[in-house]
Amino acid sequence: MNLMEMDNYLIKKSLANSDLNVAVVGLGKVGLPLALIFADRELNVTGVDINQKTVELLNKGILPHYEPKVPELLVKCIEKGKFKAVTDTIAAVKDSNLIIMVVPTLIKKNKEPDITAVEKASESIGKGLKKGSMVIIESTVPPGTTEGVVKDILERESGLRACEDFGLAFCPERVQSPQVVDDITKNYPKIIGGIDPKSTEIASALYSFINKKGVITVKNPKTAEMEKVVENTYRDINIAFANELALISGKLGIDVMEVIDVANSQPFCNILRPGAGVGGHCIPMDPYYLIDEAKKIGLDVQLLENSRKINDYMPQHVVELVEDGLKEINKNISNSKIALLGVSYKENTDDYRYSPSRDIINYLHEKNAYIKTYDPFVDDVSDLNVEHFNELRECVKDVDCIIIATAHNEFKEMDLDDIKSLTDENCLFVDGRCAFNPDHVMNAGFVYKGVGR
Ligand SMILES: NC(=O)c1ccc[n+]([C@@H]2O[C@H](COP(=O)([O-])OP(=O)(O)OC[C@H]3O[C@@H](n4cnc5c(N)ncnc54)[C@H](O)[C@@H]3O)[C@@H](O)[C@H]2O)c1
Repeated sequence: MNLMEMDNYLIKKSLANSDLNVAVVGLGKVGLPLALIFADRELNVTGVDINQKTVELLNKGILPHYEPKVPELLVKCIEKGKFKAVTDTIAAVKDSNLIIMVVPTLIKKNKEPDITAVEKASESIGKGLKKGSMVIIESTVPPGTTEGVVKDILERESGLRACEDFGLAFCPERVQSPQVVDDITKNYPKIIGGIDPKSTEIASALYSFINKKGVITVKNPKTAEMEKVVENTYRDINIAFANELALISGKLGIDVMEVIDVANSQPFCNILRPGAGVGGHCIPMDPYYLIDEAKKIGLDVQLLENSRKINDYMPQHVVELVEDGLKEINKNISNSKIALLGVSYKENTDDYRYSPSRDIINYLHEKNAYIKTYDPFVDDVSDLNVEHFNELRECVKDVDCIIIATAHNEFKEMDLDDIKSLTDENCLFVDGRCAFNPDHVMNAGFVYKGVGR
């Protein structure tokens, strides 16, 4: 089957008739739900991951990372014989008409973009690529990567020509955990940036097949790449603004949340929440994809760089609040027992790989504090050098300070009087997520400190 020679009607018919094979390369937080959504629509999907353990778990119907709705989809699609996981990219690509890449993209220690996984995956895809197939990049990448890096690798490895022999498009992934399935299928349209009209047409047909909100096509892959990076950079700048307001308000004795809530009643104001730092592998990294490109063309992008600096400072600010608050109750941070509640980077999710809690823990270690942690979504944090508990009430026993690092529902709903009865008599409560009414915390008998309050 040659997708490049099929008209729109035929492409749609092949999708509806389940005649197309799809390979999704990278079965992480985004790639796995995407692969299963295609399989649930009766396409034959091969999921590829270089991690052998991930592949083994998935084929047994077990999820390496929790995401709502995905466990049920996995079992259903395996039972129907529509999804299987493998480690061999070349073989999977040889068998597929549509190849979608969703591998990780990161930044290096010096903050430059690290697209090594995209380059490696492109090499393997190129080796298996056959005439008439379509390759789609979903990984977030610096503007220019699809046409400037991926296309060259695919052509070199396959001996084929983009546009003539195979299609290529950048279609950014815009999802957020824990709503990945709904984001892919119905919350907002997919952005499509093909290298030529045919590639845009094929990718549009594919995503319209699974997304009720349809697609928005843009001029080229570079525009789509830029659009994705802009979404996350916008959030980073907005949060940095909220954080800077919090730092000012905290010193002026003003409650920043009252200010933000009231300001947001004006329709043109949409200030996000301040907090203990920005985590995950999207918002803290993607702005550097723009900063790096800007630097290459000699532009000084201070807003972007300063926003990153402000947000990176917030974990340290939380530890400064802890130190000051403990002094107020005649305690020294050194050797104080501190319960850090929440290690994941976002509320009600289990991903703690790039979490601000890691930075808070490092600063607390530097101050020789004794750190206890609890997170209802994370059982094992053996890499964090802390005493981790699987029960909230155990974690807060006899502590001198509680830090709310992640606003999980379980914390927001906890009985403050009960928690206070378990801690040391003189206990500080540092709300790093503006998740609690300060009066409620103080009424329970805690000394209160909060970001921006
Ligand atoms: N997680 C999110 O909420 C989110 C949202 C929007 C965009 N994104 C972007 O989507 C991309 C993927 O993110 P993720 O969260 O799914 O990452 P992830 O780390 O959860 O998963 C990536 C998977 O790719 C696999 N992998 C790495 N190199 C590979 C290769 N060469 N071949 C095959 N598999 C390979 C890894 O083993 C891993 O299982 C990134 O560019 C990210 O920025 C993520």
